[in-house]
Amino acid sequence: MQTVQLLQVTDPHLFGNSSRELYGVHTAKSFRLVLAAALADGPRPDAIVVTGDIGDDCSAGAYGQFRDAFAGCGAPVHVLPGNHDDPALMATLLDDRGFQYCGRARVGGWGLVMLDTHVPGKAHGLLADSELARLQTDLRALGDIPVLVCLHHPAVPVGSAWLDGVGLENGAAFLEVLDRNPQVRGVIAGHVHQEFDQQRGAVRLLTTPSTCAQFSPGTQHCVMDQRPPGYRRLSLHEDGTLATRVGWLSEFVGRPREENDARR
Ligand SMILES: [Fe+2]
Repeated sequence: MQTVQLLQVTDPHLFGNSSRELYGVHTAKSFRLVLAAALADGPRPDAIVVTGDIGDDCSAGAYGQFRDAFAGCGAPVHVLPGNHDDPALMATLLDDRGFQYCGRARVGGWGLVMLDTHVPGKAHGLLADSELARLQTDLRALGDIPVLVCLHHPAVPVGSAWLDGVGLENGAAFLEVLDRNPQVRGVIAGHVHQEFDQQRGAVRLLTTPSTCAQFSPGTQHCVMDQRPPGYRRLSLHEDGTLATRVGWLSEFVGRPREENDARR
């Protein structure tokens, strides 16, 4: 069994109108540039995970553009919803021909579980009882191989009050499931548009910069970060350990600026 190469991209915030911007960043252009840079930055990924906020306006056009951007990428694309997404539309448009919506998967010697934390009309996240039960069922079904769990909302505070107020509401219940399943070695999330890396026992808790604009770490209120769009690469080793790093787009695609309505 070889090391599994995984690519995470997150929070592209695409619009049906591909010329629209968010925080002064052209999200469709930025997403395509990040994807090209991330795919070129290392071995070909065995799988790609996109951890939500794929569409900003819940339009079929946004999901269509998303789909088109992966043409020829040569890896299965796993998607899950963020607070800005329409889960039912995603399940209809992004669950066939190379795309998988939520559920579980086996990639080489590792398992993936993709969760839905979407709460209609709200920015915070919640794992419904059925989704928590499904996590346990999927972990049991994957057996004793190491597992990476993927979701939109981080399960622990990241140190920014305004973002921590709209995190995963029942993060404690989620972490209890992980505590009962020592084969879980990592959790990747989006939502906070910044890099975060915390070891909790045997589990690495990670968040990843957005493919559009970033938020400054450690703030009370929304402050834009001038760092460029980013992505995360992960090497999942056969002994259950993982190595990871964030990559940044060298070509700058706009100067992020604050908007009246801060959108995670
Ligand atoms: Fe987002």
